[in-house]
Amino acid sequence: MRFRHCTMSVITSILAFTVLFTLVLCMEIPAPEHLNLSSQYFVHLLSWKMGPGSPDGVHYSVKIKTKSGSMVVVEACENVTSPLLCNLTEAFSDVEEIYYIIVSAALGSHMSPNASYTPFKPIDNTILEPPLVTITVCNQSLCVSLRAPAERLSEIYKSFKLKYRLRVSSEDGTEFTVDKEGLGNEPLSNLAPGQRYCVTVSIIDRSPPNRPPVCASTPKTANVSDAVISVILCLLMVIFVMCTPRLVVHFFCLKADLPAVLLDDISPYIILKEMEQWSVGIKC
Ligand SMILES: *[C@@H]1O[C@H](CO)[C@@H](O)[C@H](O)[C@H]1NC(C)=O
Ligand SMILES: *[C@@H]1O[C@H](CO)[C@@H](O)[C@H](O)[C@H]1NC(C)=O
Ligand SMILES: *[C@@H]1O[C@H](CO)[C@@H](O)[C@H](O)[C@H]1NC(C)=O
Ligand SMILES: *[C@@H]1O[C@H](CO)[C@@H](O)[C@H](O)[C@H]1NC(C)=O
Ligand SMILES: *[C@@H]1O[C@H](CO)[C@@H](O)[C@H](O)[C@H]1NC(C)=O
Repeated sequence: MRFRHCTMSVITSILAFTVLFTLVLCMEIPAPEHLNLSSQYFVHLLSWKMGPGSPDGVHYSVKIKTKSGSMVVVEACENVTSPLLCNLTEAFSDVEEIYYIIVSAALGSHMSPNASYTPFKPIDNTILEPPLVTITVCNQSLCVSLRAPAERLSEIYKSFKLKYRLRVSSEDGTEFTVDKEGLGNEPLSNLAPGQRYCVTVSIIDRSPPNRPPVCASTPKTANVSDAVISVILCLLMVIFVMCTPRLVVHFFCLKADLPAVLLDDISPYIILKEMEQWSVGIKC
């Protein structure tokens, strides 16, 4: 009896131990999978999937560290359950820093192994779109003006020495490129008058043009309007020179003819007379 009891208790103990051991093993939480950081315009969104066989109620935390700093939990991404997403836009505040990212799952006191993402440097790894283009007529030619695709990106587009390539093409098939540092105005030289030009822009070594070209025409033969204005001015001068002597004569003659009494009160009369003479003068 005793022996049997003893055997039973040993077996029970072994069983209990096995069950406990299995429980601990089973509680091993799988690490998150398929980490994916999508980053556009310095808006960084990290997503991931549950590891296969993850128990219900598991939650995730995202930690980051810089090259010199220590691992810290991203405040907004502690105990994430659903959706499995972490907005790292504010956490990656220094665009020239290299960030290391790990995601881990937890249930109660049980933690999964860490899943890590490739080191990420915002200025190099974010997707940037080319700047926006406007074209204006300037100096009888065209000026191309570049600006950042969003106001908050202006400083980055200006200050990180991104280089831009303008590709200019015209209807007659000529095509050339102009490289430019920073934003702002770029005059295009040696354009033909009265010709339509189209411009696309890319960021050199970063992103190809992704918007339809912006087009504008150079002014028609640059000197036509100047010539017209000159001719009109000349004509006016000729008329003026021809008519002035008559006007002067008429004005003084009229004044001399009038009785002194009336002189105080003749302004409207004189003006009328003058106008009459002027219209006569025009016919000369
Ligand atoms: C990462 O996410 C982006 C956008 O959600 C998607 O287009 C891309 O295919 C994903 N990459 C991988 C490796 O899952
Ligand atoms: C996240 O979960 C842990 C453990 O369950 C808890 O101690 C902590 O307060 C939670 N944090 C937040 C922000 O909910
Ligand atoms: C991520 O955060 C940035 C800055 O806080 C915000 O502009 C953006 O809309 C957020 N994106 C998502 C999908 O939450
Ligand atoms: C996961 O990373 C954290 C922070 O670096 C570390 O403390 C922890 O030991 C790691 N966990 C595993 C299972 O490696
Ligand atoms: C126009 O040309 C003059 C001289 O060639 C130059 O000084 C001026 O900056 C130009 N204006 C613009 C808007 O490019």
